[in-house]
Amino acid sequence: RPRVLSGIQPTADSFHLGNYLGAVRNWVGLQDSHEAFYMVVDMHAITVDYDPEVLRQRIRRSAAQLFAVGLEPSRSTVFVQSQVHEHAELAWILGALTGFGEASRMTQFKDKSAKHGTQAASVGLFTYPILQAADILLYTPPLGGKDFQVPVGEDQRQHLELTRTLAGRFNHRFGPTFVEPDAHILKSTAKIQDLQEPERKMSKSSSSPQGIIDILDEPGPLKKKIMRAVTDAETEIRYDPETKPGVSNLLTIMSALGGEPIEGLEGHFAGAGYGQLKKELAELALETFGPIRERTLELLADPAELDRMLAKGAERASEVAAGTMDTVRERVGYLRRG
Ligand code: TYM
Repeated sequence: RPRVLSGIQPTADSFHLGNYLGAVRNWVGLQDSHEAFYMVVDMHAITVDYDPEVLRQRIRRSAAQLFAVGLEPSRSTVFVQSQVHEHAELAWILGALTGFGEASRMTQFKDKSAKHGTQAASVGLFTYPILQAADILLYTPPLGGKDFQVPVGEDQRQHLELTRTLAGRFNHRFGPTFVEPDAHILKSTAKIQDLQEPERKMSKSSSSPQGIIDILDEPGPLKKKIMRAVTDAETEIRYDPETKPGVSNLLTIMSALGGEPIEGLEGHFAGAGYGQLKKELAELALETFGPIRERTLELLADPAELDRMLAKGAERASEVAAGTMDTVRERVGYLRRG
């Protein structure tokens, strides 16, 4: 079976709707057709300010949400990045193959370091994309043209490009080792926008929490956020992201959650007001996320069991990662321990 791999940062108490529609929901669908590896990337999360106890809770919360949305330990390898030490090891080697200028062109570092300035940012934040490349390439399928997919949102495209570049460079310098991964980006949900600032993507660092739908939101706040979403001064429910970003985003979300194409929704809401669209969307969101929320809380009620599930995932991931590192260590010229 072809391989698929992806990751999510444990930097919030809940995944938001962008994480869910842009990435995580698609992971579930891919676990049957692919050999799947999905990880909570806690090593990436420590590159910015954080509290250790909060991080530990969020790692568990992230894992619980992954299981709650439908990833199954029997069909997917779900694990925590830091529990597989090969990630750090390969990142070092790939770092030695990355140009300083090349790393400097990564736009996410510029965005994320903008707030406090690049001088205050950590070197870990700077080398973040290299660790991400290591996350991916450790799980390279055996050579021979098997496809290798990484399901992510639009904002990860540049990181995937760097990963491909580094894979190619390693292969060229040391001999064929890695399959170059493809970004698996679903166009319709690649960029879910903020509800309050619909010209910006929904993001953990949004200025207003009202703009972010968290999948673990309680029904009250969830409904309120949708009812208060920014729209426009017209009345027509029509998909036109240029002039009607707010309404178009709501249509995108509704179509993704309910499975009805956007044209169908435009027909359904012909003559109706924005209030009606929001009301139906809120109902759909409650229906979708209610069970996920419940299941997440159930899983969190037994942290020891959750930790055991993750330990099994890490064990399976380690086997694959260690196999890749054996080859890599040999190729780069390290000496085998005698
Ligand atoms: P992270 O944790 O920021 O986001 C997790 C996933 O959610 C997607 N996403 C969105 N999709 C659509 N609309 C949005 N508004 C939106 N916001 C976020 C992201 O594209 C991502 O797929 N660097 C990665 C984590 C990572 C990783 C990896 C991913 C580390 N190693 C290896 C893939 C493979 C990140 O920060 O994702």
